[in-house]
Amino acid sequence: MAANLPLSSRRRRSLFLLLALILILTLTLTSLLSSPRSPSSNLSSLTSSSSPPCGCLASDLTNGHWSNATTPRQPLYGATCPFHRNAWNCLRNGRAHMDAINSWSWVPDRCAGDPVPRIDPVRFLKAMRGKKIGFVGDSLNENFLTALLCVLWSGDETARKWKRKGAWRGGYFPKFDLIVGYHRAVLLANYTWMPVEKLDQYPKDEIKGIYRVDVDVAADDWNRITKFYDVLIFNTGHWWGPDKFPKEKPLVFFREGKPINPPLGIHDGLNVVISSMVSYIEKEVPGKTLKLWRTQSPRHFFGGEWDQNGSCLFNEPLKEHELDSWFDSKNKGINREAREVNEIIREAILGTSIELFNLTHLSEFRADAHPGIWLGKKDAVSVWGQDCLHWCLPGLPDTWVDLLTARILNVFGR
Ligand SMILES: *[C@@H]1O[C@H](CO)[C@@H](O)[C@H](O)[C@H]1NC(C)=O
Ligand SMILES: *[C@@H]1O[C@H](CO)[C@@H](O)[C@H](O)[C@H]1NC(C)=O
Ligand SMILES: *[C@@H]1O[C@H](CO)[C@@H](O)[C@H](O)[C@H]1NC(C)=O
Ligand SMILES: *[C@@H]1O[C@H](CO)[C@@H](O)[C@H](O)[C@H]1NC(C)=O
Ligand SMILES: *[C@@H]1O[C@H](CO)[C@@H](O)[C@H](O)[C@H]1NC(C)=O
Repeated sequence: MAANLPLSSRRRRSLFLLLALILILTLTLTSLLSSPRSPSSNLSSLTSSSSPPCGCLASDLTNGHWSNATTPRQPLYGATCPFHRNAWNCLRNGRAHMDAINSWSWVPDRCAGDPVPRIDPVRFLKAMRGKKIGFVGDSLNENFLTALLCVLWSGDETARKWKRKGAWRGGYFPKFDLIVGYHRAVLLANYTWMPVEKLDQYPKDEIKGIYRVDVDVAADDWNRITKFYDVLIFNTGHWWGPDKFPKEKPLVFFREGKPINPPLGIHDGLNVVISSMVSYIEKEVPGKTLKLWRTQSPRHFFGGEWDQNGSCLFNEPLKEHELDSWFDSKNKGINREAREVNEIIREAILGTSIELFNLTHLSEFRADAHPGIWLGKKDAVSVWGQDCLHWCLPGLPDTWVDLLTARILNVFGR
């Protein structure tokens, strides 16, 4: 220790000299740069310029409107982005009205009439050099991820596919050493198919088996990456219905390895799984990780469910006064579950370090922006119906990307 003292005091002195030099340089530059008409530096204008940039506050998602009066912004990528998933590549699939879909901008109330600024991919990649961004959840998070990958690809076309650490898919941006990954975990909790032959206590004629959901066990797809990413974006909710888990293949909820008694219905099960996954994230994910929970992406089936010729061939966004008739639970509409699930999410993350990324409201308007009948495969519509759930790319998810990256930059430096 003693031998180190002179060295460390020398270090301290040179550090002091360096700081003094920086101070002198800064003062000189400031006086050179400041306009001769305002010789006294204006502190209040300095502080006002540090108010958070448009798009980075949670309220910028929830308070605003869509406008087509601002100059339409060209999408940052086209049909050739290597990260596209075919069914959402609406340009390639010849979807009508793609220009119209991309002519709308989200204008947060806070931003003096300006649309949320489009991400500058190179600037974002530079600011996030060496970092890792992870999405965990279902295909609506994959839709989001795909938009982010394509947007960032426009800033580094040397990007390549990345699929490690149990990721379903992802991208690596070599020039900036940035990883963006997606871990598919549709229920977030671990679940297992158990055919009825292997079960004693179930009537063999009524069910084919059960999906055992361990409410207190995070799915293998993501339980080893809780410390790997600097940003994590979670979602679930779209699978929690009779489409995916019909009567003859029900979800049965387990805790500590035993069936929960009395058995939970699917809605209570969702509630228990979300709060238990929130506790798991609080326990396992480091405090310095930016944790976001994305609310539900709304569906827009009109005139029937997806398997009853439900359709979304709209040419422009819904109007504000139309939203409640589509989405308010009271109206028992086809698409009402998004707001119901959101209430569960809101309660579960209250008071935790997880931030709500509330993209539901701004997306509720965009009945015009789904793939609809343009799915890129001849028989897809007759088999699957229209897709009024996922979103065209380029399209609405690019606005999610603008808002997400503004939020991330506000945390990780500009
Ligand atoms: C400083 O800037 C604020 C806001 O731009 C302005 O209202 C104020 O008059 C300025 N004060 C001086 C001393 O220039
Ligand atoms: C999301 O934002 C909308 C619009 O402001 C609001 O009505 C809704 O309650 C919010 N959802 C949650 C879960 O906070
Ligand atoms: C903007 O939207 C309105 C309908 O809300 C439509 O009548 C108008 O043609 C659109 N303008 C442009 C430039 O697309
Ligand atoms: C998750 O479920 C799979 C079977 O689907 C099982 O093999 C695995 O051990 C479970 N993971 C945990 C952490 O319990
Ligand atoms: C959907 O449309 C097809 C073709 O028009 C029709 O044959 C079928 O009955 C419709 N299904 C429902 C549930 O309305």
